[in-house]
Amino acid sequence: MHLKNQLLEKIENRTACVGVVGLGYVGLPLALEFARAGFHVIGYDVSERTTKALMAGKSHIQDVSNEELTRLVKSGKFEATADEERMKEMDAVSIAVPTPLAKTRDPDMSYVLASADAVGRHCRPGVVIVLESTTYPGTTRELMQPKLEACGLTVGENVFLAFSPERVDPGNPTWNTKNTPKIVGGITPACTEIASALYATCLDSIVPVSSTETAELVKLLENTFRSVNIGLVNEMAIVCDKLGVNIWEVIDAAATKPFGFMKFTPGPGIGGHCIPLDPHYLAWKMRTLNYKTRFIDLASEINSEMPAVVVRKVAQALNEEKKAVNGSRILVLGVAYKRDIDDMRESPALDVIRLLENQGAKVAYHDPHVAQFREDGHEHKSVELTDKEITSADAVVIITDHSVVDYQRVVRLAGVIVDTRNATARLAKGKGRIVSLASARSYTAV
Ligand SMILES: NC(=O)c1ccc[n+]([C@@H]2O[C@H](COP(=O)([O-])OP(=O)(O)OC[C@H]3O[C@@H](n4cnc5c(N)ncnc54)[C@H](O)[C@@H]3O)[C@@H](O)[C@H]2O)c1
Repeated sequence: MHLKNQLLEKIENRTACVGVVGLGYVGLPLALEFARAGFHVIGYDVSERTTKALMAGKSHIQDVSNEELTRLVKSGKFEATADEERMKEMDAVSIAVPTPLAKTRDPDMSYVLASADAVGRHCRPGVVIVLESTTYPGTTRELMQPKLEACGLTVGENVFLAFSPERVDPGNPTWNTKNTPKIVGGITPACTEIASALYATCLDSIVPVSSTETAELVKLLENTFRSVNIGLVNEMAIVCDKLGVNIWEVIDAAATKPFGFMKFTPGPGIGGHCIPLDPHYLAWKMRTLNYKTRFIDLASEINSEMPAVVVRKVAQALNEEKKAVNGSRILVLGVAYKRDIDDMRESPALDVIRLLENQGAKVAYHDPHVAQFREDGHEHKSVELTDKEITSADAVVIITDHSVVDYQRVVRLAGVIVDTRNATARLAKGKGRIVSLASARSYTAV
């Protein structure tokens, strides 16, 4: 009781030292929110390259500006370190390390386990620890709690443990770490109370839930909901293609219904660190309980088919020009997994490029946010979007519809465009043909 009140007081008067473990897309913005709220924040990351760059005011996260980072480093409110010993100073620890999938599609818990070990090594009574990494229900109680208790601590009595999923949507201009409601579920009511008090200092709204499992499952429900609905609309795109109906017109018309419909749009597949991976954490957990999550599996099957659907569209479009994929020059526009961000993780563009190259196409790409990337030991560099680059391509394939690209110019100059995002729908027609992802009818320029 005494330790709990002491910690609550330190949180209340901002004298608690807040630690954030893992300074990536999730951890860095969160660390800076705590710093802005007046705490002294230590960001710990195993990558010394990352921590050194951050201390030099260089942000690797698009949503975090160098100016703001520099201001908080200079004010002494935020420091980044790769020195694990600094964990000793932390009164509160938020863990935001990766939770990828292994090649077998099973959860790869190695980062969570490594960070739990490190926290355990340096933890002392009177500390609150919050896991933020997306994971399967049971992780906090079954993996994290034993690690802390093996160090002689008792969760709920002298150390406090909770799960709070990060819901950040990188690149979203409206919703960010601060104004997105924060779910918090503790191992005990005291854990929930302290973790909620911590986040309430810098985030606009806190939603306490009754357990760590509930909090873990909230995140998986949200991302499974997205995966399933994207899978549904992608299947609807295939249906529309076969029927010769324009999917975009169908969706826009359906979205005029003021209730009971939520708009999702089809595309070349799903990407990022969340939607393609998170539902598999739940599917895995349920397999261990001898239950098959059919919606998750089906959505994943349809969504992962989409790059091949795109490549078939490209082949069909080239065929109509009496050309083969083999030997054709293809210009891919946009390789990040979604609009206006620089994140390439799990991007469907990688599959589209690989499938086209496997069929002998010569693929170049342009992406204003991704200057270069490496895939299968092969270096790819963004080409400049010159008139010549557009006119000399046998087909231009729009994978990611970044808003800074001048699609009107592309439509004016390109011979064939395969538009997987409907980026060209409202533009004046150009000289070439535009093939939509989801309508059998392509239209010719007038
Ligand atoms: N990116 C998103 O949009 C998003 C949104 C919501 C939730 N999440 C979840 O948040 C978690 C983190 O994702 P991210 O996108 O921030 O990952 P990231 O790869 O951008 O960053 C993770 C950071 O953790 C560091 N790291 C790895 N092991 C470590 C360790 N043992 N100790 C300290 N640092 C370590 C890495 O060096 C890296 O800097 C994942 O579980 C992810 O599913 C991500």
